[in-house]
Amino acid sequence: MTSARWVLDRCADLTRFSAGPDHLERTYLTPQHAAANATVAGWMRAAGLDTETDAAGNLWGRRGLGSAAPAAFRQKAGARGAALVLGSHLDTVPDAGAFDGPLGVVLAIAVAERLRDAPLPFALEVVGFWDEEGTRFGTALMGSSAVAGRWDAAWWDRQDADGVTVREAFERFGLAPGRVGEAARRPEDLVGYLEAHIEQGPRLEAAGLPLGYVTSIAGARRFVLTLTGEARHAGGTPYERRKDALAAASEVILAAERLAREAGALATVGDVHVHPGAVNVIPGRVELTLDVRAHDDAGRDALVTAIEAAGREHCAGRGVAFDLAETHRAPSAVCSDRLSRAVSAGIRAARRDGPGEDAPGGAAPGQDVPGLWSPAGHDAMAMAAVTEVGMLFIRCHDGISHHPAESVREDDVAAALDAFEAAVLAVARE
Ligand code: GLV
Ligand code: MN
Ligand code: MN
Ligand code: MN
Repeated sequence: MTSARWVLDRCADLTRFSAGPDHLERTYLTPQHAAANATVAGWMRAAGLDTETDAAGNLWGRRGLGSAAPAAFRQKAGARGAALVLGSHLDTVPDAGAFDGPLGVVLAIAVAERLRDAPLPFALEVVGFWDEEGTRFGTALMGSSAVAGRWDAAWWDRQDADGVTVREAFERFGLAPGRVGEAARRPEDLVGYLEAHIEQGPRLEAAGLPLGYVTSIAGARRFVLTLTGEARHAGGTPYERRKDALAAASEVILAAERLAREAGALATVGDVHVHPGAVNVIPGRVELTLDVRAHDDAGRDALVTAIEAAGREHCAGRGVAFDLAETHRAPSAVCSDRLSRAVSAGIRAARRDGPGEDAPGGAAPGQDVPGLWSPAGHDAMAMAAVTEVGMLFIRCHDGISHHPAESVREDDVAAALDAFEAAVLAVARE
């Protein structure tokens, strides 16, 4: 269970746990969540880890210091055995690929197995977080936020598309809402958090490199915009009498794109609901989702302000009311120098072990290790509130993600395994 093939096969296995037979969708607190946890827990136990589902539904595998650990290691790790945590998330977006999230969890299990007999000066834990994507309840990073002690009480009343609240979903899953605080970890019990993830963009592929380390992660802000005009007869209403909410929404969408491009940032309207939604009725109300990301939080916030101002102006011009409600906000996170050095050292070590420049997985020795900013969100952002974080990025074909065509090369996964294992050993050597 320590080969790239094993990792890829387990990612394929997990696609069975899906809300539908013809697409992959696995969301928080669903039967697929429970089934995936049970299966992944089996893999964790086979890797020598004790398993537990925490008070927020996240799955943990843990290996303590062990009685054979040298006294110096015990002293270094503290009385409770502070842990280095490796992981990512097990939930997916709708119509997902197999690797966004699960690859980082399965790879971490394989690394734990490889290090099964290695004396380490810390406990080693593997985590499968839930609700990184936030597609069920409209907010994101719920599981990792619980672990970071940042569960937001306002989340309890959030509803999914069927009107099920987070509180009800907890109870149906067999979790006690009142105990969610027990999932929180204390900074003094953590050595750090390392996450491996597909890049979800085209930069490593363009550079011809299998691996990179992450410098910082953009914090997204997400909104629901509600544009309210007037639903009227599509034939009987002349243009000067119309308050067409969808025409206004189109202007808002294009303004968001233009402003984001000008700012060197990203704004996406990913979902649109039109009411009443009939061929012969002028749209009276439109709800849009908006996702905004930039290199830093100040740039992101300035872009939000600009989009809101442009939106209000476009809507006012059409007699349409504009309302904006924030559903999610994450601060951007910086990966620590210490863990980034460890990940870079891991990437270099994997190259040295590898077969050479032209061979699978081998980049030219001595070539610099690329450090990448991540415009995609990761559990590491939430974990950064409670411990140092570091991330390893793995090249993915065509940079495609949040799509069934997500793919990774087996030799890249082999390189990632070597690099991630070496990164853990680099942290251990400090
Ligand atoms: C998570 O995948 C995100 O939306 O960045
Ligand atoms: Mn992800
Ligand atoms: Mn994702
Ligand atoms: Mn929809």
